[in-house]
Amino acid sequence: MRSTLGGTCLNVGCIPSKALLHNSHLYKEAKTGFSKRGIECSDIKLNLQQLMKAKEDAVGKLTGGIELLFRKNKVDWIKGKGSFKDANNIEVTTADGTRSVIHGKNIIIATGSEPAPFPGFEIDEKQIITSTGALSLEKVPEKMIVIGGGVIGLELGSVWSRLGSEVTVVEYLPAIGAGMDAELAKTFQRTLTKQGMKFKCNTKVVGSEKANGKVLVKVESVKTGKAESLEADVVLVSVGRRPYTEGLGLDNVDIKPDAKGRIDLDAQFRTSVPHIRVIGDVTHGPMLAHKAEEEGIAAVEYITNGYGHVNYNVIPSVIYTHPEVAWVGKTEQQLKEEGVKYRVGSFPFVANSRAKTIDDAEGLVKVLTDAETDRILGAHIIGTNAGEMIQEAALAMEYGGSAEDVARTCHAHPTLSEAFKEACMAAYSKPIHA
Ligand code: NAI
Repeated sequence: MRSTLGGTCLNVGCIPSKALLHNSHLYKEAKTGFSKRGIECSDIKLNLQQLMKAKEDAVGKLTGGIELLFRKNKVDWIKGKGSFKDANNIEVTTADGTRSVIHGKNIIIATGSEPAPFPGFEIDEKQIITSTGALSLEKVPEKMIVIGGGVIGLELGSVWSRLGSEVTVVEYLPAIGAGMDAELAKTFQRTLTKQGMKFKCNTKVVGSEKANGKVLVKVESVKTGKAESLEADVVLVSVGRRPYTEGLGLDNVDIKPDAKGRIDLDAQFRTSVPHIRVIGDVTHGPMLAHKAEEEGIAAVEYITNGYGHVNYNVIPSVIYTHPEVAWVGKTEQQLKEEGVKYRVGSFPFVANSRAKTIDDAEGLVKVLTDAETDRILGAHIIGTNAGEMIQEAALAMEYGGSAEDVARTCHAHPTLSEAFKEACMAAYSKPIHA
């Protein structure tokens, strides 16, 4: 039970990690990238305490903002741990042990998720850490091992690598990126390697041992079985998250989570008890704050108006590294599996004037369209500000737009977004700058 509003995203997820990602990027740029831009700096030092304070300030302002919004919109905040007593009554226990019961005609479960445990690694949030510990380390570890090359591992691995750690990511699958487009995953891994991160893909973690203040991570090659031990000062376990329902009293209302701990729901977000609805990480779908937000609005609309809507085909994903990786809709792999005839339009940032101007031209835009109708089915971007640009694809897809629709929309020059326009041109005809 947290003493602030905003859930994982605001307190120990999206928001603090983005503050650290931004400032660690500036630090690394100041150290290694400024001189080629004609900015000479000397004696650049890291003040980790101040970096953490900047993160805490951002989190504090935003959690406080939610409290204000609650007051403004007349939402009561009862501070305590809630548990179903029965289908309409929630028992709330406050921090000092006081208990009360609140009654609800309609109830929405939005209890989120927690880091999935990893056998053989006992989390102490100092030496063996989850994303929560990785947001508050007191010093830069010399060597960090990241178990799991998904979103958390790559974002927080990047932060500590930029701040000076030697970071090695161990990933079980052949590629990093937790299922992103295979072409982008390759480019991404190459880019992060150039930045100094090391990767061991196709590698299974089999156990750990602590000795002389270090952790030995025992791994095995998935292909050959060859075993080795990797030494680290800190190990980040980022192998996924699991739904959080501990102590929620679901037994008292006869709601049974599935084998993965998720609460099942129907198209109107109703659980097996119709007036109890469920949204976010604790139910099915991607564990993303913006997906939960859409679901929250739709669930309330179902309660108040009888109609709500979430388009699960158009939920963007972003990895906030530098460059960013962002995608929405189908991957090529998925279209192949579904037997859909598709076309690919690609455009590299090296051919985009703005990217060249700012000397930040790594990556590409890739648009996948229906071969017959030209409708956009997916978009995959690796490049600076990809997380902003992906909204253009999402909007086009939400409106059922075609690549030609986007290509015939005048884009301001010089902008990075022109690369998206040209990838769309490439999908149905030919880009200008190629
Ligand atoms: P993830 O599912 O993104 O990645 C976990 C990775 O660990 C996968 O690549 C998987 O193959 C690998 N893995 C699993 N078991 C392993 C093992 N035994 N040995 C080696 N590798 C193993 O999970 P992650 O990064 O922990 O993130 C959890 C959730 O939080 C995700 O749903 C993610 O989307 C969300 N998140 C989203 C962010 C964003 O939108 N920018 C930021 C941070 C988290």
